[in-house]
Amino acid sequence: MASTFAKRSRAARGAREHRGATQAAQIELSGVTKRFVTPSGSMFTALRDVDLAIGAGKFCAVVGPTGCGKSTTLTMVAGLDRPSAGTVRVGGQVVNGIAEGTSFMFQADALMPWKTVLEAQSQARAWVRRVGLAGFEDHHPHQLSGGMRKRVSLAAALINEPSILLMDEPFGALDVQTKAIMSNELLGLWEQTKPSVIFVTHDLEEAIALADQVVVLTVGPGTVKAVYDIDLPRPRGAVQEIRFQPRFLELHHQIWESLREEVERAYSRTAPAVSAEGGQS
Ligand SMILES: Nc1ncnc2c1ncn2[C@@H]1O[C@H](COP(=O)(O)OP(=O)(O)OP(=O)(O)O)[C@@H](O)[C@H]1O
Ligand SMILES: [Mg+2]
Repeated sequence: MASTFAKRSRAARGAREHRGATQAAQIELSGVTKRFVTPSGSMFTALRDVDLAIGAGKFCAVVGPTGCGKSTTLTMVAGLDRPSAGTVRVGGQVVNGIAEGTSFMFQADALMPWKTVLEAQSQARAWVRRVGLAGFEDHHPHQLSGGMRKRVSLAAALINEPSILLMDEPFGALDVQTKAIMSNELLGLWEQTKPSVIFVTHDLEEAIALADQVVVLTVGPGTVKAVYDIDLPRPRGAVQEIRFQPRFLELHHQIWESLREEVERAYSRTAPAVSAEGGQS
């Protein structure tokens, strides 16, 4: 499968060099705060003072406890929502609506129930094969497994060869083996065409195996706690094997210490409520 990627990617790289402007693509959040009005009418701060810079062609993974604002961050980079304070820039321009060249793979499947796997595009068949769904072209989303739907979403996100790729737990629903295959596929594509990526995951091993930088967000209101440079050489090779390298283990240990504190804080906020509820029953 990697060779199919390589062939297609050479063409894509030529196109990108020709276009020129997309080479400057980069993502920058400065002092970004996001507040929501809650159903009871009060204000809720989801993100606070987030500063983050992702260079052109860099792969950034974001980890943090549930509810810390990871999906909210992607939504603003995608131009689907605006910050309450601060600015989000893509390619030097303040994000103002959905930008061409940005692909967003949502946390929930964003497939259209009435459309079959194969849309009327000549490239679609090749992409469907690439994500291992040959033979399922005529299926509707409800006729696919959760993992298959994720793979259709991946093909849909990659088909236009975006310069900015936003992925919200894209492999969360996949079994371990399929997840490894899809991670390797994604790496193969990225190493050839180098879109700027923000990849949200709860899987720290996956984050380190794929990324140039791993960003740890604090418990909500989320803000950047630490940014780790992942200095593992590229090409990385198989994600299943890299995690046994001493440098990988060292980075994992270091980042996990930082992430664990935030996960424990998030848990301690909900734990008393859970035990109180339990006590009443
Ligand atoms: N449209 C909205 N209105 C009100 N609150 C919202 C809205 N969107 C998100 N929130 C709140 O903002 C916080 C951050 O949500 P977000 O979905 O970004 O978290 P997350 O880090 O992606 O979590 P998870 O890891 O569980 O996916 C949560 O407390 C959520 O309830
Ligand atoms: Mg989320």
